Amino acid sequence: MMVFQLCFGVLLLCCTVKNVQSAFRPLVVGHRGTAYLPELTLAAQAMGYAYGADMVEIDVCLSQDDQLIVIHDIYLDAVSNVAEMYPGRNRSDGLHYVIDFTLEELRLLSIHERTIPFNGTQRFPSRFPSNANVTFRLATLNESVELLLGLNQATRRRRELLIEIKKPEYHSQHNKSISSIVLATLNAYNLTKFTDPVIIQTFHIEELVHIRRNLNSELRLFALMVWNRINESSSDYDFYRSREGIGNISSVVQAIAPFYEFLVNFDSHGALLGVTNLTTWAHDYGLAVYPFTFRRDLFPGQNFEEFLDYFWHTVDIDGFITDHPDVILRYLDKKPVFSVSSSIYASYTTFLFILSVVTKTWFCNEPMLV
Ligand SMILES: *[C@@H]1O[C@H](CO)[C@@H](O)[C@H](O)[C@H]1NC(C)=O
Ligand SMILES: *[C@@H]1O[C@H](CO)[C@@H](O)[C@H](O)[C@H]1NC(C)=O
Ligand SMILES: *[C@@H]1O[C@H](CO)[C@@H](O)[C@H](O)[C@H]1NC(C)=O
Ligand SMILES: *[C@@H]1O[C@H](CO)[C@@H](O)[C@H](O)[C@H]1NC(C)=O
Ligand SMILES: *[C@@H]1O[C@H](CO)[C@@H](O)[C@H](O)[C@H]1NC(C)=O
Ligand SMILES: *[C@@H]1O[C@H](CO)[C@@H](O)[C@H](O)[C@H]1NC(C)=O
Ligand SMILES: *[C@@H]1O[C@H](CO)[C@@H](O)[C@H](O)[C@H]1NC(C)=O
Ligand SMILES: *[C@@H]1O[C@H](CO)[C@@H](O)[C@H](O)[C@H]1NC(C)=O
Ligand SMILES: *[C@@H]1O[C@H](CO)[C@@H](O)[C@H](O)[C@H]1NC(C)=O
Repeated sequence: MMVFQLCFGVLLLCCTVKNVQSAFRPLVVGHRGTAYLPELTLAAQAMGYAYGADMVEIDVCLSQDDQLIVIHDIYLDAVSNVAEMYPGRNRSDGLHYVIDFTLEELRLLSIHERTIPFNGTQRFPSRFPSNANVTFRLATLNESVELLLGLNQATRRRRELLIEIKKPEYHSQHNKSISSIVLATLNAYNLTKFTDPVIIQTFHIEELVHIRRNLNSELRLFALMVWNRINESSSDYDFYRSREGIGNISSVVQAIAPFYEFLVNFDSHGALLGVTNLTTWAHDYGLAVYPFTFRRDLFPGQNFEEFLDYFWHTVDIDGFITDHPDVILRYLDKKPVFSVSSSIYASYTTFLFILSVVTKTWFCNEPMLV
């Protein structure tokens, strides 16, 4: 009896330590699902989930009939056969806009790997072939929510959906309140609370204030930030990434999601020189920091791991928004999480291994997905 209790105690301790351990590593967010399939399709979202991403990140825009479509650009040309399917439906810039099509029309489009509009070559040449004869379709927010909740139920896991509201000001110019429609859609799934597995983010920071204060949402909110010169929204990111600016939004958002260049200084050759104060300031105000976008294609070879290592240990970020969640998770799993000597870590993992053999892993492990 005594021996059983002792074993039970040790097992409980080991489970606790294991949970603490995974809570301590940075989060991994699967940006547009994963890099390996056409972005944001349900297939890419499922693959990001299966690779173990803690969150799957998606973008939403409104169709002409106010349905939430999961797509990154407000136009369709980079990822679909819209020009072939709907000739003459372009605007004066030549592009075909999501907001000019109904859901029924959008559902007929074939989706492919991202290309350069009017050119046709792949944005990331080594990724999934854009001319593959495999039919992918646009997803709706409803489908993405049901995919996430369904996978959570089927795998007994608790992963989250990070929903980016695209260009609230543009939607507003078209007399559409995209944020209200997102909240109403989530409400239909009872996804309304801080602890629910969905999070909202957008580049238009004043919209986050509106969502919190006027639309009274209790969901977690993240503030995306990029260079002002990109014109992603009218928000002044030079202000919001100052100490005062972080303080300004700290009562509204739970995290900032800045372009990674805001967290580090580079020399003229692109070598890392040091960290900016942004991460410290965010942490001082109790906000997490999830920079984007870590793409292995852009950091070939060993450099990518050095880059990740720098952001984790020197910049001290709380998570990676990445096209390659599998690569980052593999890298994180290789590293001891506690600041203990590697020999202590090695004995700890050996202990866990022996324990798992002895107990046939009936207690600590999550169910396997594949
Ligand atoms: C719009 O599409 C039509 C064919 O569908 C094409 O002839 C025309 O040049 C396009 N307009 C612009 C501005 O690219
Ligand atoms: C398409 O873009 C690629 C890469 O930027 C460039 O090399 C190529 O010349 C372009 N092709 C056309 C037809 O514009
Ligand atoms: C897809 O099918 C078309 C026509 O059947 C063919 O020309 C093309 O090479 C195929 N694409 C690939 C990637 O096999
Ligand atoms: C999504 O779900 C909402 C709420 O249940 C419903 O009103 C809407 O029609 C659905 N949209 C689609 C495209 O399925
Ligand atoms: C939005 O509504 C205003 C006022 O009703 C109207 O003048 C304007 O044309 C509408 N804009 C669009 C894009 O529908
Ligand atoms: C939401 O919650 C209400 C009340 O608890 C329940 O009746 C309803 O079935 C739930 N809806 C969904 C989609 O889970
Ligand atoms: C952003 O807006 C400014 C001023 O309107 C313009 O000069 C600049 O070209 C725009 N930049 C981009 C990337 O669209
Ligand atoms: C944040 O900035 C807005 C806009 O400049 C201002 O109205 C508001 O008072 C500021 N809030 C805080 C807490 O500083
Ligand atoms: C950043 O922090 C350092 C050290 O705390 C401080 O000396 C420096 O002035 C800060 N930079 C800015 C722009 O506030």
